[in-house]
Amino acid sequence: MISWVMMMMISCRADEVDTTLGFTDLPFNTSYYHLHKPYDLPETQRYSFAGGVHRLWVYATDKPYRRGSPTKPRTELMISGYTYSSGIWQFEGQGYVPKGTNGVCIMQVFGATRRATSLMLRVYNGSLMYYQRAVIVPEIFDRWFRLNVIHDVEAAALEVYVDGVLLLVVADHGGKSHYFKFGVYGQNNMSDCMESRWKGIRVLYKNVT
Ligand SMILES: *[C@@H]1O[C@H](CO)[C@@H](O)[C@H](O)[C@H]1NC(C)=O
Ligand SMILES: *[C@@H]1O[C@H](CO)[C@@H](O)[C@H](O)[C@H]1NC(C)=O
Ligand SMILES: *[C@@H]1O[C@H](CO)[C@@H](O)[C@H](O)[C@H]1NC(C)=O
Repeated sequence: MISWVMMMMISCRADEVDTTLGFTDLPFNTSYYHLHKPYDLPETQRYSFAGGVHRLWVYATDKPYRRGSPTKPRTELMISGYTYSSGIWQFEGQGYVPKGTNGVCIMQVFGATRRATSLMLRVYNGSLMYYQRAVIVPEIFDRWFRLNVIHDVEAAALEVYVDGVLLLVVADHGGKSHYFKFGVYGQNNMSDCMESRWKGIRVLYKNVT
């Protein structure tokens, strides 16, 4: 598995590319997303939106999103207004992960065959990782970074850019219905508190016909 991932890793290129060329910006406002949070808490206890910044946090001891669910705690914005099954879709956001956050997924492409996700970007040991398999950015804490994730459904391919540099190309995991999600979703070895902040969220689409 390790060698397979390494083969798919693109060596770091210095040149920044405009990932949005040829894409169309889609409207994005509160009509297009909603919050998943511990079921027993009001939104304001785990989410704020101020000065254009979405701040999402969750505690390792929090309840799951649905009562009785075995899933780990999460506070995430689901971009429910754009579920897709074809075409080329792009997520853009400026992200920030405060030091101390660990064992958490901060962005995902939902939808796959025989599993939940086609892509998870997680934070472990201060690094941004593809699941637990490969380091994408070794040191991610305490700085804003621009994330672009492009999902070509027909090609079953995903690209991850950080600050305009292509750092990961991987196959998706199949599935017929996808959407983007970001925030904090606890995984293994969660820190007591997990947090990510986001601004400048864009959803873009490229017509391939
Ligand atoms: C969000 O944008 C859409 C499309 O531009 C618009 O129809 C809708 O009224 C907007 N909703 C809010 C809450 O601003
Ligand atoms: C994080 O670091 C610990 C201790 O060095 C190591 O055991 C663990 O495998 C690392 N986690 C990941 C996902 O690489
Ligand atoms: C678990 O996370 C802590 C940081 O929160 C880290 O120091 C430790 O190495 C991690 N352990 C493993 C097995 O990943």
